[in-house]
Amino acid sequence: MSILNKHAILEKNVTLLAIFAFLVVTIGGLVQIVPLFYLENTIEDVEGMRPYTPLELAGREVYLREGCYVCHSQMIRPMRDEVERYGHYSLAVESKYDHPFQWGSKRTGPDLARVGGRYSDEWHVDHLRDPQSVVPESVMPKYGFLEAKLIEGTYIADLMKTNRIVGVPYTDEMIEAAQADFKAQADPDSDFDGLLERYGESVNVRNFDGAPGISEADALIAYLQMLGTLVDFSTFTPDASR
Ligand code: HEC
Repeated sequence: MSILNKHAILEKNVTLLAIFAFLVVTIGGLVQIVPLFYLENTIEDVEGMRPYTPLELAGREVYLREGCYVCHSQMIRPMRDEVERYGHYSLAVESKYDHPFQWGSKRTGPDLARVGGRYSDEWHVDHLRDPQSVVPESVMPKYGFLEAKLIEGTYIADLMKTNRIVGVPYTDEMIEAAQADFKAQADPDSDFDGLLERYGESVNVRNFDGAPGISEADALIAYLQMLGTLVDFSTFTPDASR
């Protein structure tokens, strides 16, 4: 009896087939899962990663509320065409403080994982107000109303506390200073030393929308301008030992 004939026994007996199918799937599953138990960490730690500042976090909330993820991904795949267009492929560590992550699943517009610093604040203001004014063929909706909506960061400390519950390392000091840091980042004339001390020297402190008061556009642009800028890829080398 050849092995093929034996297989016929399996094909004719449903119970036996179920048992063997279960065995095969179990072995396949174990082969994939067990090695992960022996890795110390599945996310490679990279220098430069920090939690969002209060203003950026507020901007991220606007991004979620407006459904920007419906048209934009934040996930550069390790394929040549994507890397040439958008920059270094996304690292797992770059979304480790994202709850929920914004990888997205559709690109009606371009990927935004590394849009930070690619355009000026003024460009973003014009583009949000009227995308067709800077990219005539754009199908992106207008978001000019965000400039008119002034915000105070009243609840930002609560949001940071919630993020801390799911693992974002906000310190008590960061949460205490949340609203002050929120306001300081949008005002270059303010005392923003504390903000830089808590979140790092590379934090952008500007009047992002160029208008008085802190608007949702300020927060959103602060968020967009830092996307993908935390890891310095001129010095980054993947750590193959882990
Ligand atoms: C209906 C789909 C759609 C939605 C929703 C949308 N966009 Fe866009 N977006 C586009 C398209 C298409 C482009 C490319 C043309 C352009 O630059 O306007 C684009 C371009 C952009 C760019 C420039 C990217 C680059 O690298 O050139 C930014 C930044 C951007 N969108 C931000 C946002 C933000 C923030 C939101 C939510 C407030 C948003 N978009 C919502 C479709 C969309």
